[in-house]
Amino acid sequence: MRKKVTIVGAGQVGATAAQRIYERGYADVVLVDIVEGLPQGKALDMLESGPVVGSDANIIGTNSYEETAGSDVVVITSGIARRPGMSRDDLLFTNMGIIEGVTKQVARHSPASIIIVVTNPLDAMCHAALDASGFPRERIIGQAGILDTARFRTFLSQELHVSVRDISTYVLGGHGDTMVPLVGYTTVGGVPVSNLIPKARLDQIVQRTRDGGGEIVNLLKTGSAYYAPSAGVTEMVDSIILDQKRILPCTVLLKGEYGQNNLFIGVPVKLGAKGLEEIIQLKLSAEEEAMLKKSAGAVQELVDVMKKKKASG
Ligand code: NAI
Ligand code: 2OP
Repeated sequence: MRKKVTIVGAGQVGATAAQRIYERGYADVVLVDIVEGLPQGKALDMLESGPVVGSDANIIGTNSYEETAGSDVVVITSGIARRPGMSRDDLLFTNMGIIEGVTKQVARHSPASIIIVVTNPLDAMCHAALDASGFPRERIIGQAGILDTARFRTFLSQELHVSVRDISTYVLGGHGDTMVPLVGYTTVGGVPVSNLIPKARLDQIVQRTRDGGGEIVNLLKTGSAYYAPSAGVTEMVDSIILDQKRILPCTVLLKGEYGQNNLFIGVPVKLGAKGLEEIIQLKLSAEEEAMLKKSAGAVQELVDVMKKKKASG
């Protein structure tokens, strides 16, 4: 029997991720949204592409959770997205309510699933999903680091005129302005990037990476990025469903690792059939450590705001 992947939110990120996963053919896909007809229409349209793209998988759309029962992986993209002038943090309270409601349904119908959170503000929404699901930390994982790292690799590849595949790096920390591109771990064909690009120029590329989400929002004007984000989601789903055990930058609950306790931020992890299988501990420079601490502080602030809001009803 094929594996089952549910995607909640049939908007830009959700539908594009559904398409990528459906085309892989290794899992049946269920697309869920509150808008009547939207997930059904998009799923049927994708299903009808099967004969052309060569996928024998099934894909359906629905407004309820019965059809999602027994999913192996659930990707949560439901919520509002940024528009020009908005930061990811502006989405906090609206998306917190949506994530709590959705996650409770997911946990009820797919109690053994692994949840991939995408909705922003990402790190805070991972906390909301963890609390609402009651799942162990191994089964709540956020997507952000693959996207941020992909942006960094893209800009470095443009600068150096080399294949994106030969650039190895990580962007860690929270998915926000304080994210931490690890210049010290960035190599191009094995050569440290600091030997290839002068510091001032490298600083500009790091800043463009940090601003990468906003750059797309300002161009699109009506929403935020979805092609690269859905590619990031799909890389995570591949690694879990196919038990690839890839080492990928993902957002997970730290319990002492990287000096953080009970906080979701992006770090390199091993992703396999069990979800989070290992947290990879990199030795950071004092400067990188300080940046990660600052980024963790920004996430903690949002988590505290969320806690306060919940306590006040
Ligand atoms: P979108 O507006 O295109 O789609 C969101 C969908 O969620 C809509 O179709 C809406 O009807 C649906 N929805 C709302 N409430 C729902 C509920 N209770 N149950 C089921 N569906 C519900 O937005 P887009 O562009 O797909 O972005 C989705 C979220 O992902 C946003 O919060 C965005 O900021 C975030 N995002 C995160 C990224 C990351 O790297 N973590 C990257 C890109 C987007
Ligand atoms: C991005 O970085 C909006 O979080 C989304 O593009």
